[in-house]
Amino acid sequence: MSAQEPLPGTRPAGTRDEREAARAVREMFTRIAPRYDLLNRVLSLTFDRRWRRRAAAAVESQLTSRQACALDLCCGTADLALELARVGRGRVVGSDFARPMLVRAREKSAAAQAGLLLVEADALQSPFAGNQFDVVTAAFGFRNLANYRRGLEEIHRLLKPGGVAAILEFAVPQRGVFARLYRFYFRSVLPRIGNTVSGVRGPYSYLPASVEKFPGCEQLAQWMEQAGFRAVSYQTWTGGVVALHQGVKG
Ligand SMILES: C[S@@+](CC[C@H](N)C(=O)[O-])C[C@H]1O[C@@H](n2cnc3c(N)ncnc32)[C@H](O)[C@@H]1O
Repeated sequence: MSAQEPLPGTRPAGTRDEREAARAVREMFTRIAPRYDLLNRVLSLTFDRRWRRRAAAAVESQLTSRQACALDLCCGTADLALELARVGRGRVVGSDFARPMLVRAREKSAAAQAGLLLVEADALQSPFAGNQFDVVTAAFGFRNLANYRRGLEEIHRLLKPGGVAAILEFAVPQRGVFARLYRFYFRSVLPRIGNTVSGVRGPYSYLPASVEKFPGCEQLAQWMEQAGFRAVSYQTWTGGVVALHQGVKG
């Protein structure tokens, strides 16, 4: 794929373009918001907590000053934003375009006295001025963007020079018995549990489908470089089930 070619973004079933895809994603997360946290814990066997904790630890060194500012895009119910607030000393902003997720995020921030600033916004058209964040993160949200190239450009725009992007996403383990078992779980078991517990048909079938269509780790790293990031690296965790990509704004 050349640097000029538009990169793909998510396309939930039945959507034809970016606008329809974004609307479908927003509706999906609006509908599952009440059971989102519970399902995260159950479906990941609580690994999701560890993954976010590790992601926050990976950027902790950028957040040691009181002046530091972090933005968690697609923050959902704020689990990663809360981790960032726990490890850092500065301000943490979370943004998401599904209001019911933010309502839950506000309750959790208040309960933890974390002082998160929560903003309803589309990650592809952030209302924030450029060059102001030391860290921009996205946990399990980037894959849902309707245009990945624009998502990366936007993250790059928002970061201060020298600031760090960290993208935590699901990946597909490739080889071995674990990979086969995981695929069976992810494709066949997870959607059933998700659909039953959430009471909503669709989103938990979209999850494995969107992960399988999402670019591989090497491809995403290459796109980050094309978007202007330097020192791009990634690591996979838990047998390759998730990957954390990082890059520095040059
Ligand atoms: C799988 S959830 C992840 C939430 C949270 N980051 C976490 O770790 O649990 C994906 C979130 O991304 C949000 N999202 C997806 N596309 C978005 C966009 N274009 N702008 C803002 N939020 C978006 C959804 O509303 C949803 O809350």
